[in-house]
Amino acid sequence: MDKPKVVLGVSGGIAAYKACELLRRLTESGHDVRVVPTAAALNFVGEATWSALSGNPVATDVWESVHEVPHVRIGQAAELVVVAPATADLLAKAAHGLADDLLTNTLLTARCPVVFAPAMHTEMWEHPATRENVATLRRRGAVVIEPAVGRLTGVDTGKGRFPEPTEIFEICRRVLAGGARGTDLAGRHVVVSAGGTREPLDPVRYLGNRSSGKQGYALARTAAARGARVTLVAANTDPVDPAGVNVVRVGTAVELREAVLAAAADADAVVMAAAVADFRPAHYATGKIKKRDGVEPDPVALVRNPDILAELSAERARPGQVVVGFAAETDDVLANGRAKLARKGCDLLVVNEVGERKTFGSEENEAVVLGADGSETPVPHGPKDALADVVWDLVGARLG
Ligand code: CTP
Repeated sequence: MDKPKVVLGVSGGIAAYKACELLRRLTESGHDVRVVPTAAALNFVGEATWSALSGNPVATDVWESVHEVPHVRIGQAAELVVVAPATADLLAKAAHGLADDLLTNTLLTARCPVVFAPAMHTEMWEHPATRENVATLRRRGAVVIEPAVGRLTGVDTGKGRFPEPTEIFEICRRVLAGGARGTDLAGRHVVVSAGGTREPLDPVRYLGNRSSGKQGYALARTAAARGARVTLVAANTDPVDPAGVNVVRVGTAVELREAVLAAAADADAVVMAAAVADFRPAHYATGKIKKRDGVEPDPVALVRNPDILAELSAERARPGQVVVGFAAETDDVLANGRAKLARKGCDLLVVNEVGERKTFGSEENEAVVLGADGSETPVPHGPKDALADVVWDLVGARLG
């Protein structure tokens, strides 16, 4: 079988050295990779490295091997183009259709999915010019991965860091495997909540739950791979951010509500995968609650937390916004799910059965997705990414 043809475009940023790791992963997993570095990229990593790691000649400019018409051929033959790192300059050129070197020519001739993994200083990423260029590229269907937050080239830290090569690889693999799904969520903004809230009792104790956040992370990752701009509101989850999404970290239900409502203002869809505590302690002790000999502990008084899903459903921030809830049930799974769907007023409810060793912290899931239109979509036992893809299929169908 022919190996999938991937073009790795490298523009001139220090993160070019990390693209070597991405290249390795691509070739080792059976892809035929042509590296197209810009002239500036060659200042960071030389032609010999790209050639040795890809096992292919490296094309650097339009005037080499002119008889092969490389400025057209390479893009036309590609099944995926990934530009990593993508500098602010490269994004600007791509957004405006400039074609002054081999990589930008390739981007204009490619008809396959295109993934950009930007890396730059925070100021450059946040500049209105870059924001508009990124929005333009996304509107046209390109996947522009959100940069990570962390250490930048010098001593400074902030947003703009090159995402982990393993995460970029994962997105490339998914985009290539996407088939008909492709980048169907390009140009959309989706909000996903994940994890479990913690409601503090005192400075060292809280009421919490066993949600790991893995299903929410799978939803965020898959939506990013399908081209969406993703805001992930994460309550007490794994500290490693999934690549390509905006992560807002929260602790309590009240904080989660604030972050979700803010992000939902311009969102096409909101998926509430977080396990939100229905109650919180009525009183927060500012000092640690101490045990005293011979004195019975005070009962913990609880108050209701706001129901975020019901609120989102009742007051849609945008016409046509799709709202999705999750429900974990132990008995009468479908009947309870239907009743909950009606009570909450959402468009879709993903219902799964929970019990000892089921769902929490596991890598797999099994569910039924109920629709307000009466539909019922069973999702067999399988990876959380597969369930996430079904959720996005159903959301996409409702977005039209
Ligand atoms: N949810 C929410 N705000 C809350 C509680 C839950 O938005 N205060 C959301 C969850 O994110 C999830 C769905 O609602 O999408 C789960 O519904 P919930 O009422 O929490 O289910 P249960 O707690 O299982 O309800 P019940 O106790 O009635 O079974």
